Amino acid sequence: MTDVRSVLVVGATGVVGGLAAQLLAGRGASLALAGRDPARLADRARRLNGCPTATFEAYDLDRCTALASWAAEELGGLDAVVVTVGVAGFGTAEDVTNAAAEHLMTVNALAPMAVVRGALPVLRAAGTVAVVTGAIVDRPMRGTADYAAAKTALATWLRVVRREQLGYGVSVMDVRLPHLDTGFADRAVIGSPPVLPPGADPAAEVERLLVGPVMGLVAA
Ligand SMILES: NC(=O)c1ccc[n+]([C@@H]2O[C@H](COP(=O)([O-])OP(=O)(O)OC[C@H]3O[C@@H](n4cnc5c(N)ncnc54)[C@H](OP(=O)(O)O)[C@@H]3O)[C@@H](O)[C@H]2O)c1
Repeated sequence: MTDVRSVLVVGATGVVGGLAAQLLAGRGASLALAGRDPARLADRARRLNGCPTATFEAYDLDRCTALASWAAEELGGLDAVVVTVGVAGFGTAEDVTNAAAEHLMTVNALAPMAVVRGALPVLRAAGTVAVVTGAIVDRPMRGTADYAAAKTALATWLRVVRREQLGYGVSVMDVRLPHLDTGFADRAVIGSPPVLPPGADPAAEVERLLVGPVMGLVAA
């Protein structure tokens, strides 16, 4: 076992992705960061000793699939992939446009799936993929049908992949984060959020549900 573990964080420009990167680096992981916004991505990398970066747009699914092999080349191998890409959307089923529905399904389900699809053949033995879904999978609220359906599709896909990977030693984590104080709901692609209770502390939850378990798995 080597001390340094190599991790790709996809969605590193977001609040959860940024925290995950910072906490993983703090635990000694060697990182590659992927994100959409080039300026924010460069800023994140600068704060993490200039780690390698790649930009991507969720609609470019082939680019999503190529991210893991890029990271493995940059880092000399890959132990884990953390996917935190997502976008919110609100409105009753008849009020959500087909364009918004497609957007929600692409960013929240198809893009994370494409990233994992590319990671499975690339990860080192006993590698880990950790993908953020959300507590909404277990408790979908009215006015979130399309967002909840996308996260649930992703959760089901991950469940099947976990079974497929049992014989290969790859751990597949579905990270069902609770509502967090990140402003995520206010960046919705359509509609406005209902009145929500205060969100939980992002850093504490990202450490508890994502970074702690990922480092536990890859260091085992
Ligand atoms: N915050 C919560 O309450 C909560 C609860 C449960 C689950 N989650 C999940 O946690 C994840 C992270 O959420 P967050 O709170 O950190 O929100 P965030 O700060 O808005 O992060 C969302 C991330 O997704 C990226 N993204 C959005 N659309 C994209 C696109 N078309 N192409 C490429 N990247 C795109 C964003 O990139 P840019 O930086 O370029 O915008 C950003 O990196 C999401 O999957 C969300 O569903 C959040």
